[in-house]
Amino acid sequence: MKAIGPQGWGHRWILSLIVAATFCAVAGLPLQATEIASPVVEEANPAKVAPFNPAAADHGAEVQRLLAAMSLDEKIGQMCQVWPETGELTPVIQESLRNGEVGSLINCASPELIAEAQRLVREESRLGVPLLIGRDVVHGYRTIFPIPLGQAASWNPKLVERSAAIAADEARSQGVNWTFAPMVDVCRDPRWGRIAETLGEDPYLSGELAAGMVRGFQQERGGQLHGLLACAKHFAAYGLSEGGRDYNRTSLSIADLHNIHLPSFRAAVDAGCRTLMTTFSEVNGIPGTAHAYLLQEVLRDGWQFSGVVVSDWNSVIEMVAHGYSADEAEAAKQAVNAGVHMEMVSPTFHEHLARLVEQGAVEEAAINEAVRRILRLKLQLAARQEEAAKPGDAAAATSELLRPRSLELARRAARESIVLLKNGNNTLPLQRDKLRNVAVIGPLADAPLSQLGCWAVDGRAEDSITPLDALREALGETAEVVYARGVATTYSNEAQDFTDATRVAADADVVLLFVGEDAVLSGEARSRSTLDLPGVQSELVKAVAAAGKPIVMVVLAGRPLAIGAECDAADAVLYAWHPGTMGGPAITDLLLGAASPSGKLPVTFPKHVGQVPLYYGHSNTGRPSPADFRPLTQSQGKDLPIQFQYRSHYVDGDPFPLFPFGYGLSYTTFAYDGFELSAPSIEPRQTLAVRARVTNSGSRAGVEVAQLYVRDLAASLVRPVRELKAFRRVYLRPGESQPVEFTLDADDLRFFNNEGRSVLEPGRFAVWIGGDSTATLGGEFELSGEESAEETPAVARVPKQDEPAESSVPQQPVRVDNGT
Ligand code: BGC
Repeated sequence: MKAIGPQGWGHRWILSLIVAATFCAVAGLPLQATEIASPVVEEANPAKVAPFNPAAADHGAEVQRLLAAMSLDEKIGQMCQVWPETGELTPVIQESLRNGEVGSLINCASPELIAEAQRLVREESRLGVPLLIGRDVVHGYRTIFPIPLGQAASWNPKLVERSAAIAADEARSQGVNWTFAPMVDVCRDPRWGRIAETLGEDPYLSGELAAGMVRGFQQERGGQLHGLLACAKHFAAYGLSEGGRDYNRTSLSIADLHNIHLPSFRAAVDAGCRTLMTTFSEVNGIPGTAHAYLLQEVLRDGWQFSGVVVSDWNSVIEMVAHGYSADEAEAAKQAVNAGVHMEMVSPTFHEHLARLVEQGAVEEAAINEAVRRILRLKLQLAARQEEAAKPGDAAAATSELLRPRSLELARRAARESIVLLKNGNNTLPLQRDKLRNVAVIGPLADAPLSQLGCWAVDGRAEDSITPLDALREALGETAEVVYARGVATTYSNEAQDFTDATRVAADADVVLLFVGEDAVLSGEARSRSTLDLPGVQSELVKAVAAAGKPIVMVVLAGRPLAIGAECDAADAVLYAWHPGTMGGPAITDLLLGAASPSGKLPVTFPKHVGQVPLYYGHSNTGRPSPADFRPLTQSQGKDLPIQFQYRSHYVDGDPFPLFPFGYGLSYTTFAYDGFELSAPSIEPRQTLAVRARVTNSGSRAGVEVAQLYVRDLAASLVRPVRELKAFRRVYLRPGESQPVEFTLDADDLRFFNNEGRSVLEPGRFAVWIGGDSTATLGGEFELSGEESAEETPAVARVPKQDEPAESSVPQQPVRVDNGT
């Protein structure tokens, strides 16, 4: 559970209680709890009103009815999200629930506490408006799936959707109805610890997966949400935190904002995502929590978003620390006026909004708008809330957790997330019949908590099956599995004696070496200044390699690591991210060949931290580095040869990745040929079919992720050297071929300019199809003719999302098919 500074709701009121109690005691006055509990005192509306009707057929009318009946304090209450910091519903919180001063609770300690809070508002508050119960169900609830970055490596939106649906079912059974996921921030700097929570570096891939997650979490049918409210976060550009240091400023052009950082949010909104969270950080000098351009021009007016915007944890109050708000009252005013509808944890809305409305600094219309949006969501969740409140459902709720089918899906998700980076001499899959003695070494071979990764708040170590458990289970009958941890933790820097590890390695037929990062090294506020294998693990790898046995290195980590030397020392390398509850069995499935790896990197792997940000969709520059560039440090004491001088690289290192975006091997091989375009040129309203044939050229069945990249060769703003526009997973038996066809349309060729306008410019485009972002099979086509002014969307690209969400079946974005 998160620790919180002294600004917390509980703290504030507890402090006021102490101050007031002291004052009363000194002054000899009696203390009235309600006087303390309600800093903004307003006459309660005594009129008798029918309470919130969860079964109301006409949501719009019900919202209006409630709004008309609410006092200003009750309305503001809906905009306050409170953290029961002590793990209990303190008398102060109970009182404010009764008074209708709380719209949502975050991080409730138990289903019982949630049920009691819902009962309190339903039965004892005047209007009985249910609570939104928020929780970070990021990659699973009890059944933990791979970290989002790992799930992104599956390139499988359908699987991601199914995983989110399991998470939603589990969480919902415990009374949670709002998850703060998906995190859709695009990140190109692996130093940032929160890269683990992202869906990678690419706007399109992130968007496709985010949409899948939203559908899975929300499970929307007929306008009702059968899962959780999803929350796309952190709006926007949080992934660009300067220096990879969390909470740091972000600074970017309007074009980059729209082309790189907003598309994944747009995809989430188009998939029907009901809530968005603002970023902690400042974006071009304005904190995300008061960013009117983002919240109004882009989100409200451009995208016609009709859901709820919640601030991040204390991010309203933190605008004072940023140096943007003079005091907390101003912070509340700026947040609401910019378009924030609910305040997470810090109590500035509660403490200042009523007065700000009285003073005319905040329009009551803004409060009404926020409350309307919040009430609509509550009605969309209502049916299931009623269900969850049925008495005697505790056993049923528990049986929803860790179901066999959920664990099976978590195993599959982990398997599909793992990327095979190297497989020298076809070391993998291991031949079980040749194994007599298997050495399992490393700090992450048996680390049940760490394999869950960051943000596994309800995950439990005792539910995890570790690689050591799974290998013993799978091999125990036929081979001896000998374990040596090697080092205590991944990050301890103390010099170690690796004797145990080297001894077991010396006796083994094969060494399985589990290294990487403990979960505490990634996630929020877990940025790193290096990307090396932390601690003394590199020494461990060297010591074990000296035994001369075949080594399979399995890396569990929350970010791409610069592990070139370690990859050289190993024969085969699997990158397993933090794979979740079923990580052990999933890794074992791949090691023993029960399945072939199919994961592809959703993020570029640098060779060295000094190269970051390093990403495939970079600009060419006027002086790109030649592909055969060798740095000065490798030129035997001579200066760089002339062809390497004055080029875009480092004198002591090249600008190329260790592994490129989209890369990943399998136990078979795939070949591409037969590239063709349906036409040499298209006009704005036409589509272009791009085809190739992919063949399984190896001897095992496998899944290939065919990827389509485009480059706009000359444009009014320099465009990236490649942009992913489509992908498809293709299952092929040995020797089998399949055509893959992608359809490009004008929307795929657009980009945003620095006025935030979407433009489509005629000219030549290059296009490639292949197995990663370095694909060479491709051609060129022409986009000719202008589109008419009416056809050019402004900030928004896709038609408006249906207002009121009461009825809504959200519009699906029209994209090329990404079948599984
Ligand atoms: C994080 C959010 C998270 C929230 C609630 C914040 O610190 O930035 O991503 O959803 O806490 O736990």
